[in-house]
Amino acid sequence: MILDGKNVSSKILIKVKERVDKLKIKPHLVVILVGNNPPSKIYVNNKKLAAEKVGIKSSIIEFPDNVTEKELLDKIVELNDNSEVTGILVQLPLPQHIDKNKVIMAISPKKDVDGFTPENVGKLVIGMKPYFYPATPQGILMLLDEYNIKVEGANVVIIGRSNIVGKPMTQMFINRNATVTLCHSYTKNLEEKIKTADIVVSAVGKKIVRCKMVNKNSVIIDVGIFKDVNGKITGDVDFKLVEPTVKYISPVPGGVGPMTIASLMYNASIIYS
Ligand code: GUN
Repeated sequence: MILDGKNVSSKILIKVKERVDKLKIKPHLVVILVGNNPPSKIYVNNKKLAAEKVGIKSSIIEFPDNVTEKELLDKIVELNDNSEVTGILVQLPLPQHIDKNKVIMAISPKKDVDGFTPENVGKLVIGMKPYFYPATPQGILMLLDEYNIKVEGANVVIIGRSNIVGKPMTQMFINRNATVTLCHSYTKNLEEKIKTADIVVSAVGKKIVRCKMVNKNSVIIDVGIFKDVNGKITGDVDFKLVEPTVKYISPVPGGVGPMTIASLMYNASIIYS
């Protein structure tokens, strides 16, 4: 069965719009985009379009590739101090000469709609409620919940240890009482681990999950999105062969991507004063 992220995300966006319509103050999301990374440009544009749809004001501030760290930090300080701005998101990746952690740490945790600042990550880890949960893991949990897929007690295998997906996803599953194995490029016997998992989340960016690795009860969440040799958008999972052999699978496109956007819009609709 297909986990239809496009359909579920539309339902979430309708709810977010209802929420936003009732707010006395209009949320304002500011997205900072550095350089000319084509996928980043597409993602940022999609975020802007989604914000417009739900009545959230959004602005994109663009900087050239050669922007200095100081210029970025100064802009973030200015946005932190601007009470009309309720959310700040710095699109990653940033150019090599910029310390991304320094930039992230400059964002006020109460405006950190990505949930990437040390305060929000730390709160997540110690079981406190952060101001914001990272959008992709939160979107994945929303998708699983919509299909009533049981997380409590599930054996979850996550492939990829990024700060954006793998690490926060691990923590969020643990907080939901799942047992998590976080796999990466040094993991031994990956195939065996995937085979025995109830839920597999793959966030690698290359073809890694094959038909022989899954079982008939597997729930497969594909976070990967990249172009194959023919220029076609694809994910980490060999969808054609895996789909008929598992219980649930999220497609690419139309799975995690739209859920991430909806989850981000949910975050952007939350205002802390
Ligand atoms: N680049 C890829 N995914 C993300 C994300 O969720 N947030 C930000 N800020 N940058 C990204």
